[in-house]
Amino acid sequence: MYIIAHRGSSSAAPENTIAAFDLAVQQGADYIELDVQLTMDQHVVVIHDDTVDRTTNGSGFVKSYTLDQLKKLDAGSWFDPQYTNERMPTLQEVLERYSQRIGILIEIKHPKRQIGIEQAVINIINQFAYSRHIMVQSFDESALQRIKAYAPSLRTALIIKPTPFKLAKRKLTAYRSFADCLNMKKTMINRRWIDRIHSFGMDVFTWTVKDQKTADWIKKYPVDGVVTDHPAFFLKEK
Ligand code: G3P
Ligand code: CA
Repeated sequence: MYIIAHRGSSSAAPENTIAAFDLAVQQGADYIELDVQLTMDQHVVVIHDDTVDRTTNGSGFVKSYTLDQLKKLDAGSWFDPQYTNERMPTLQEVLERYSQRIGILIEIKHPKRQIGIEQAVINIINQFAYSRHIMVQSFDESALQRIKAYAPSLRTALIIKPTPFKLAKRKLTAYRSFADCLNMKKTMINRRWIDRIHSFGMDVFTWTVKDQKTADWIKKYPVDGVVTDHPAFFLKEK
């Protein structure tokens, strides 16, 4: 089971920063998960929200800033004053620093409001020799369909939330045409669904484990990856 550090090791360092990603590497996680958005000048930056308010000392939409302006923001002291010097990384910087050291799971946020983000992400990934350890995920099926069309060998994960549907054959057949993996909210995890998704040739990841009790519960299931703020909950047993 892959241990995937959610926004880096985000329980102990500011999310989506080099500090959080370095910590995940030190802890022995298998992947870092991160979120990407486009800047006003079409650079791909690593930040979860579409505004900078929660995780920097600035305010307003990411897309209203140029990369140079974003780089002036403090992306760490909201979490703890010791991280004052953290800056918002670009996807390019993250791949340069980590692509040979740890798996990277890139989530494309709000693709409908960020026209061209799929191609921008692919253009960056294509500069690196990627293997199964660079993946792209999204809640948005169309975004993943475009990713598969642009880069058929790049692995993809569709993130899914609880829905009334029963993972019907028609749905799973459609999903596997553009997704190598289903990343299911933890409340959806059960043995029957895991087996069914595996029988369609897709992996199963689950998100997001934030406490030891849930970690211990998830360990009983044959999932292929777990997204967690606390890699240490799982790595003790490696
Ligand atoms: O890996 C899935 C998870 O990252 C989705 O939720 O809001 O943390 O991006 P969020
Ligand atoms: Ca995410």
